[in-house]
Amino acid sequence: MDYPCLDAACSAPVEGEPALILCFAHGRALSQLRAIPREGLLIGRTEVVFDDAFRDAEMSLRHAKVHPAGKGRFALTNLSEQPGTRVNGSLVHGEHLLEPGDVIRAGETLMIYTRSTQLRPGPVEPLGNSDVMRAVQRSIQSVASRRHTVVITGQTGTGKEVVARMIHDRSGRSGPFVAVNCSTFTEALLPSELFGHVRGAFTGAVAEHPGLFRAARGGTLLLDELADIPMSVQSSLLRVLEAQEVRPVGGTRDVGIDVRVIATVNTEIRDLVASGKFRADLYARLAQWTVRLPRLAERREDIPFLVGTLLARADGAGRRISADLGEALLVHDWPLNVRGLLNILSIAVVSTEGTDCPLALTSEVLTALWATRKLDVDLSDSPAEAARATLDADELHELMVQFKGHVAAAGRHVGMTRSKLYRLLEAHGMEPSAFRESLSRPQGGQASAWEDGMARSKPPLSGGSAPVWQHRPAAPKVRPLHSS
Ligand SMILES: Nc1ncnc2c1ncn2[C@@H]1O[C@H](COP(=O)(O)OP(=O)(O)OP(=O)(O)O)[C@@H](O)[C@H]1O
Ligand SMILES: [Mg+2]
Repeated sequence: MDYPCLDAACSAPVEGEPALILCFAHGRALSQLRAIPREGLLIGRTEVVFDDAFRDAEMSLRHAKVHPAGKGRFALTNLSEQPGTRVNGSLVHGEHLLEPGDVIRAGETLMIYTRSTQLRPGPVEPLGNSDVMRAVQRSIQSVASRRHTVVITGQTGTGKEVVARMIHDRSGRSGPFVAVNCSTFTEALLPSELFGHVRGAFTGAVAEHPGLFRAARGGTLLLDELADIPMSVQSSLLRVLEAQEVRPVGGTRDVGIDVRVIATVNTEIRDLVASGKFRADLYARLAQWTVRLPRLAERREDIPFLVGTLLARADGAGRRISADLGEALLVHDWPLNVRGLLNILSIAVVSTEGTDCPLALTSEVLTALWATRKLDVDLSDSPAEAARATLDADELHELMVQFKGHVAAAGRHVGMTRSKLYRLLEAHGMEPSAFRESLSRPQGGQASAWEDGMARSKPPLSGGSAPVWQHRPAAPKVRPLHSS
């Protein structure tokens, strides 16, 4: 049967109105949205920006203002001497031009600046309320009850299997949902696992095996990690999808099936097709509908909602969250996406002593956040996103010392363009020439001047001008961003 091609289902949502989302206040994860009026707004202890006044004892009466900055953009100006206002974990000195996704901390209250098309409260969506996840939900809704095969793309931990199950649950199909991880079988074993085998088909085939296609009859078969299906199996799979029939290994008869196939990939399969590692005809047959899942870092506004649902799974239902932990969760780059968030929450639950106190940014959580920190800089990212997934002052110092101030070589080492690295150095007030001679690491093993200086200038682990989670537990060595 021919289906209309419904690819590119999940297009980027239209950028909406400027708004603030209240994410954490009084130790609670929240998701209140407030459009920013044209003239801007004041953030202060007794101001009513969201449903109630902030009433945050750590917030000044006039803490910060969000005001128009021309061309439809808004800026934040800090008005509070102590403790100041932070954006994405850094103290704002004067004015900061806001980018969607910026995390604002005023006292113990955390907000996200966004541009949203959903300014009126709607129903709570099962995957998250960000514009981009609402688009994913619409995409799921559109395809669930149809016969189309679906490819779900997204990085590890973004929820591909969750979405596959949701499509099956809403499909009205009476058969089971069966999942197979294609990467766990060898080239020799995968065909019999998928299509079954007859008795005596090969040494050790002492009994007939129906295979997963037949196990999923009337339901859905999830081919997880599709990109790992060897070429030799791809042609059999194409035949099965075309004919809705499987021929067990060693058999001579085809067996009819009625199975809806969903596949997941965490790389863009188009790239594999282009490089000849995946059959173009199979890809075309599978990708009748595509659902693309965004990285968690692209939808930070969903973090409070996810914290609420994941805490129950991490044995921490109803626990409050300290402002430091909330800020770290909102600002982290989440390379392991939702799975990473679940891990961190589990660590926070176990490592926070006492069941009455809020979950804290313990040293165990801090270590786990540093261990999973992403350094890759995707040049296709938005400037704000790229700036976040980048090197901090300590790492830049280390990199400059390692490459004796040679920016091009340092850039190649970390997979960053020279101009990007220059911009970063400039932003941190570092002059590459200063590293060329005087600050290079002495050979004799003695700590250099800059190491002593860095050690002295490092803020304490709590208090100070930067958030505690910005200071790593132990300095990791600068490694290439694109090392394999
Ligand atoms: N929107 C969500 N709400 C609640 N939990 C979620 C959500 N998205 C993902 N999760 C949880 O995050 C974890 C990872 O999700 P899932 O296994 O679906 O990711 P994946 O994209 O298939 O990852 P991988 O590529 O590594 O297989 C699971 O524990 C899942 O329950
Ligand atoms: Mg998966």
